[in-house]
Formats: sequence, C-alpha cells, structure tokens
Amino acid sequence: MTARKTPTLVPSLLAGDLARLGDQLDALKAAGCSWVSVDAMDGHFVPNLSFGPDFVKLAKSRGFFVDAHLMVTNPLEAASWFAGAGADIVTLHVEAIAGTDSREALDRVRKLGVRAGLAIKPKTPVEDLIAALDGASLALVMTVEPGFGGQKFMADMMPKVSALRAAIDARGLDCWVQVDGGVGDATISQAAAAGADSLVAGSAVFGAKDCAAAFRELEAKARAAFGSKQQ
Ligand code: DX5
Repeated sequence: MTARKTPTLVPSLLAGDLARLGDQLDALKAAGCSWVSVDAMDGHFVPNLSFGPDFVKLAKSRGFFVDAHLMVTNPLEAASWFAGAGADIVTLHVEAIAGTDSREALDRVRKLGVRAGLAIKPKTPVEDLIAALDGASLALVMTVEPGFGGQKFMADMMPKVSALRAAIDARGLDCWVQVDGGVGDATISQAAAAGADSLVAGSAVFGAKDCAAAFRELEAKARAAFGSKQQ
C-alpha cells in the first residue's frame, strides 16, 4: 500500500495578479507553498484563453513543483510544449483525447519525461478516470465547469472523489486525487474529507488580502479534514 500523501494546497495562477505574480509566488513560497497549477486554455475546449508554457517557466524559476492543466483540444501536442517548459505533471482531459485510449495517452505524456495526469469535467463519469488510473500520477475531478475561476463549488462531485480515493487506496497507487474549482474556506474541508489530497484554489488564495496567510489557513483546513468522510 503506498503511503497516503499529505494534503497539499495548490494555488492556481489563473487568479494571480499578472502585474505582480512573481512577488505573489515569492510570498507563497515563503509561506511554505511548494506546488502551483498552471491552467492552459485554448478558447476551443473551454471558452477562455489563458497561459502558455512561459508561465510554467516562471513558476519553475521561483522553485515550484508545477502541474500544467491542459484545457485544450490538442493536449497530446501541447503536452510536449509544457513538458519542455519544465512542468512536473501534465494533466490531460479525458474529453479531449476521445479516440485515443486514455492509458496510451498517459503513456505518451510519460514518454516526454514528466508525470501524467488525467482530468474529468463535471458531466464525465468517474469510471473514465478509474479505468486509466494505473498510468496516472494525478487524477483530477473538476468541481466547476472548466474555463473560469471564481465559480461555485459543485458539492455533488464529492462521490466521484470518494470513489477515486477508494480505487487508488485499494490498488495502492501512487496517484494524487486532485479537485479544482470553487475550493475555498467553506468548501475545502468537504473536498479533503471525501479524499482529495491535492486541492487547487485560485480566487480563495489570490483574491485574499494576504495570499500567504490564505494559503496556510486553507492547507491546514484540508489536512485537518482529510479522509474523514469518504462516501
Ligand atoms: C478552471 C481552472 C481552475 C480555476 C480555479 O477551469 O481550472 O484552476 O482557476 O479557480 P477558483 O479556485 O477561483 O475556482
């Protein structure tokens, strides 16, 4: 059985202040943050445009572990760009690799020399993630419709998180259970209680007066609640 991971709060740069993102990253690093998430959006898979590989380079230059969450229609092509920029994990959406077997897609990402993650949108069954778990280092359950920060947390996604947690524990897999979207003070405990050990938060961190304090408080809440209520 792989040892349980320590629940980790992962700030999403999408909510960062681009005029001072480097300073914000330095403040988060000083507060003990080690992992940030870079959302790549192409205006097709989701109705928004966001970051390219240069933002991975920025976060790596500040000493972070970085996951690149690809919300793009050509994730297998884009994966090489983000891997080349230094991403530690590249996460693809199941919905964007239709036609390619998820395990084969994960294998192609790993062949780039990075860990591979798989994500599902709210309407996609968790079985699609569980089927490909053996090849994944991260399994992401979106708790909002992807594309924008600041949306409302979808609590009805928690059974998916618990099912994922149970499958990973049963197989002793070394795989993060990540949730992303609407994670904040009022919602992080239920996500961690359901079994999430990687919790992505944008607005709740970067929208706070003190993003370092927000990071610390949210991560402490996640650790206190972790695994207490797997459904
Ligand atoms: C949405 C992105 C999320 C988003 C989270 O498509 O993948 O990472 O930035 O932002 P909040 O935490 O504000 O919902």
